[in-house]
Amino acid sequence: MSVDFVILAAGNSSRMHSTTPKFFHTIAGKPVIRYIIDAVHECNSRNIIVVTREELKNSGHFKDVTVAIQRTPLGTADAVRCALDELSSEYTIILCGDMPLISAEHLMNLANTSSDNALIAMTLPPEFQHMPYGRIVLSNGKFEKIVEYKNASNAERSISLANTGVYKIKTDLLKKYIPKIEKNAVSGEFYLTDIFKFIKDVEVIQSPEYEAFHGINTMQDLAKAEAFVQNKLRRKFMASGVKLIAPKTVYFSHDTLIENEVVIEPNVIIGNNVKIGSGSRIYAFSHIRDCTIDRNVEIGPFARIRGNSSFAEGSAIGNFVEVKGSKFGAKTKAKHLAYIGDATIGEHTNIGAGTITCNYDGVAKHKTTIGNNVFVGSNSTLIAPITIEDNSIIGAGSTLNENVPAQALAIARQRQINFPQKAINIWAKKGKNR
Ligand code: UD1
Ligand code: MG
Repeated sequence: MSVDFVILAAGNSSRMHSTTPKFFHTIAGKPVIRYIIDAVHECNSRNIIVVTREELKNSGHFKDVTVAIQRTPLGTADAVRCALDELSSEYTIILCGDMPLISAEHLMNLANTSSDNALIAMTLPPEFQHMPYGRIVLSNGKFEKIVEYKNASNAERSISLANTGVYKIKTDLLKKYIPKIEKNAVSGEFYLTDIFKFIKDVEVIQSPEYEAFHGINTMQDLAKAEAFVQNKLRRKFMASGVKLIAPKTVYFSHDTLIENEVVIEPNVIIGNNVKIGSGSRIYAFSHIRDCTIDRNVEIGPFARIRGNSSFAEGSAIGNFVEVKGSKFGAKTKAKHLAYIGDATIGEHTNIGAGTITCNYDGVAKHKTTIGNNVFVGSNSTLIAPITIEDNSIIGAGSTLNENVPAQALAIARQRQINFPQKAINIWAKKGKNR
């Protein structure tokens, strides 16, 4: 059976009160619309059409689908009208671009039903009963109509069977009836749900679950979707042997990869593009993204990692250390209060507390290269571009602006002068006898 898919993503997102359309807001680091397109791709349809607005067409999110343009958002029926010319299969599945938790399994179930026309209905759990979904009115267990929330009476609003906005419709009926839908008198929109005034023979597939069909219309709905996705990710990682001490306080990204035997302490945020190897531990209150963490690495507490960094086996980053775009070799450590940016560091090197790589000169970024077995004393300032070769030692408090050869001791600070007994005079002036 051949099915075309139409995803509606041309609405104004007015209830979001945001300059970013709701489809492009991210959940676990991935745009809402990409969740839906990816789920539809899993159904192996030849023809996926996204209806969107002209100005969103080249956003980069629609490269693998056919795009149809709705010039003015006049309602969901009008959006489908804009895709009619692209439809060529016997059946069409229509879904909204604001339901990121939909899965291919639900869509395949709908595609495989023997009915010509069907829709998925969900039973609203009590905490979602207030949500403004269209309500499905049954009579003698059979579909009668969908009442939009705006138009519903109080009695209809108390119906807990709601419209998910996912439909399978025979394409020739769609082409015949979409142009016949009239503007709704209350909202001035053309409602897709009004197609069922013409198509009466509709199978109602009742889904026992809500989460998969949660629609995003407001920032609150978006936060709820984020909570659903984060809970799924937490369950997935714990099921594969990742230890989360306080799961609800740890946030992942859709593409996070973590091996088993990793421990993640409370209040850790993991952004896009992070891999963590077995035996590593991420201590509390760390914020990490864009990095590869090898086996048996320690990060944090209170660490910030970003910008395509990597940490080889046994390396360690401690409290209040920021690492950006840097590579740490095996067993190399920066345990306290440091900024390491655009640096490549070899193995078994120790970066002392308070070390700063001065990678930015106000115009361009420059690289710091540090070899193996180097000891960088505390509070060193390394002015890039600079190379510090193997086995060298940097005296604490140095400000280095020249390369350091292998095996050398480099000290770049004011020489200390001790004035014998001078302190006693000063104490005396302050009235203290010492
Ligand atoms: C819609 C359904 C409602 C259902 C709910 C499920 C209608 C009239 N109502 O309501 O029965 O319970 O989804 O989440 O269909 N869109 C366009 N062009 C437009 C208007 C909307 O592309 O002119 C898109 C939106 O961007 C969105 C989708 O269609 O992705 C649904 O529109 P939305 O405004 O979110 O409808 P709901 O009020 O959620
Ligand atoms: Mg919606």
